[in-house]
Amino acid sequence: MGVSGRVMKNIVIIATGGTIAGSGIASSYKAGQIDVNEILATIPRINELASIRLIDFCQKDSNDITEKDWLGLRSLCYALGCDKEVDGIVITHGTDSFEETAYFLNLTLDIDKPVVMTGAMRPATATSADGPMNLYEAVALACRPKAKGAGVLAVFADTIYSGRDITKTNSLKTNAFDMGDVGMLGYMRDDKVYMQNLPYRLHTYQSEFARAEFDVLPEAGIYYVHTDCDPQLLAWMLDRYDGVVIAGSGSGNYPKAIQEVIENYEGRAKIVRASRLLEGSVFESDVFDPLHKTIPAYRLSPHKARILLMLALAQGYEQADLDRVFELY
Ligand code: SIN
Repeated sequence: MGVSGRVMKNIVIIATGGTIAGSGIASSYKAGQIDVNEILATIPRINELASIRLIDFCQKDSNDITEKDWLGLRSLCYALGCDKEVDGIVITHGTDSFEETAYFLNLTLDIDKPVVMTGAMRPATATSADGPMNLYEAVALACRPKAKGAGVLAVFADTIYSGRDITKTNSLKTNAFDMGDVGMLGYMRDDKVYMQNLPYRLHTYQSEFARAEFDVLPEAGIYYVHTDCDPQLLAWMLDRYDGVVIAGSGSGNYPKAIQEVIENYEGRAKIVRASRLLEGSVFESDVFDPLHKTIPAYRLSPHKARILLMLALAQGYEQADLDRVFELY
């Protein structure tokens, strides 16, 4: 029983490193240095929320998180999801590649228990570190029935985000995340949850990728469109990868020289059209893709579209199924 008279939930925190476990000052530090137990010791109130177990998964700057880490995290979360003693999972993670891990888990976890990710913009040893409050609120959210079956969630700066749409939009401020024109899912105030929206797109236990086996994922790269971008580089990427996401201008657009490469390409690599922009959507285009050789990524950023493309290619999906999954997820 907690002090509030509520039955204590059992929450497992999986630590992966990042600035939340960083050491130094805000302007100069190394990510992934501090044991999360030390951070927990600075927030004694967290023990009134839940009985907490910590698993040290890795101590990495999130720029060094790999596909192997994603698959390992997925297996670990699945095992915890099957454990009757576990009520919810919190994952601490660096902010730089946060949204990629969040989206990968959102698509592949066969779990309906709360999974809440968090991190920090200031290292654990900085003046006014933001990690402890983010962690406290993430644990509070993971204790709540409202977080069950809602897909992978994230908490930063008193705001609740979905694993599908969360995007790092600021390289400095503690309020570094956003969901573009989708807004946010809700707010936290200490341990109080004010949920306003639920994710619409399919996720976790609803996802066709949740029960799939993955050893290694097919390879996909991102081609960035800019003035005078090199068509030969795109041609090389199409030869090199199983799939290429085009980070197009505007609504997934590109110069005529790029359109020619796409129209003349007859190999097996699949091509997804995404946008460099945070807001709006990429649709099919009779102007830029009259032969329908690409798949529109809708609202997915290029780096999230790459993840969905790799998962779909691992299923051996061809164009029709690729079109379908980009509409669904
Ligand atoms: C990282 O992504 O591990 C470093 C940056 C951060 O966590 O804010």
